Amino acid sequence: MTTDMSSVIPTDREFQLFQQLIENKLGIFLPPQKKALLSNRLWKRLIACDIKGFDEYYRYIQSPQGKGELNLALELITTNETYFFREQKHFDYLRDDILPGVKAGSNFRVWSAAASTGEEPYSIAMLLTDRCPTTWELLCSDVNRKVIEQAKVGIYPEMRIKNIPPDYLRRFCRKGVGSQEGNTRVNAELRQAVQFFTLNLHEDFPDLGQFDLVFLRNVLIYFENENKTKILERIASTLKPNGILFVGHSESLHGISSRFIPVKPAIYRLSAR
Ligand SMILES: C[S@@+](CC[C@H](N)C(=O)[O-])C[C@H]1O[C@@H](n2cnc3c(N)ncnc32)[C@H](O)[C@@H]1O
Repeated sequence: MTTDMSSVIPTDREFQLFQQLIENKLGIFLPPQKKALLSNRLWKRLIACDIKGFDEYYRYIQSPQGKGELNLALELITTNETYFFREQKHFDYLRDDILPGVKAGSNFRVWSAAASTGEEPYSIAMLLTDRCPTTWELLCSDVNRKVIEQAKVGIYPEMRIKNIPPDYLRRFCRKGVGSQEGNTRVNAELRQAVQFFTLNLHEDFPDLGQFDLVFLRNVLIYFENENKTKILERIASTLKPNGILFVGHSESLHGISSRFIPVKPAIYRLSAR
């Protein structure tokens, strides 16, 4: 078994193999300057598998017996940074402009399509429980099975919950005691209100029905324009007429999709065809 990290830096050729594999499987484009990221995220797996170099690891994860390892490697490549009430203006818009106009008696449907460890969907769920005048459904997915499992559990260290408004903290969260001291758990009512599942945005979607809102935030940045366009086309087909799409504040649909009309920064409305 090797612990010499210098021997697990990928060559340019090896990097290209992983670049193609990751783009094929996830749609994520790793530019050449991300060679160090590939190495940082995967070298421990090479050691765990007792494999000497990226070339051998690549062949292993492409083989039938390496399928589980391939999934692990792909999960390690995704970047899962997130936090509660990230990009507060989106939540202000939902509270002040969207929810007051929702008709009683309708079923309001929301999809968090790159949900990561759950902070985004639970922020939405808190607001919907507080302000939505009708029944609602919240579907949450991510390609990374591990983050979805964490999201279902809904336990967060104290430093991660600082953006939750104090009244929501009191109403929707429980402080851990004993071995859970220092952690906070989203309460059972909220956890049960949210439907979690894995879904790869780079593949055709199963039938999820139509949504009033889709949150697709801070994930488009990882794709090249051609894949962004395809994903946005699939997302458009899941929105109800006039449905709203939220993207990250550093993400623009300009020149990428003509299916959406800008409403506010990083907020779009589905255009009528
Ligand atoms: C940076 S996080 C964003 C989380 C949250 N939406 C937010 O804005 O805080 C990006 C998430 O996109 C997910 N992701 C990356 N590629 C994906 C794909 N092809 N399909 C679905 N999710 C993907 C990652 O696993 C990760 O959890």
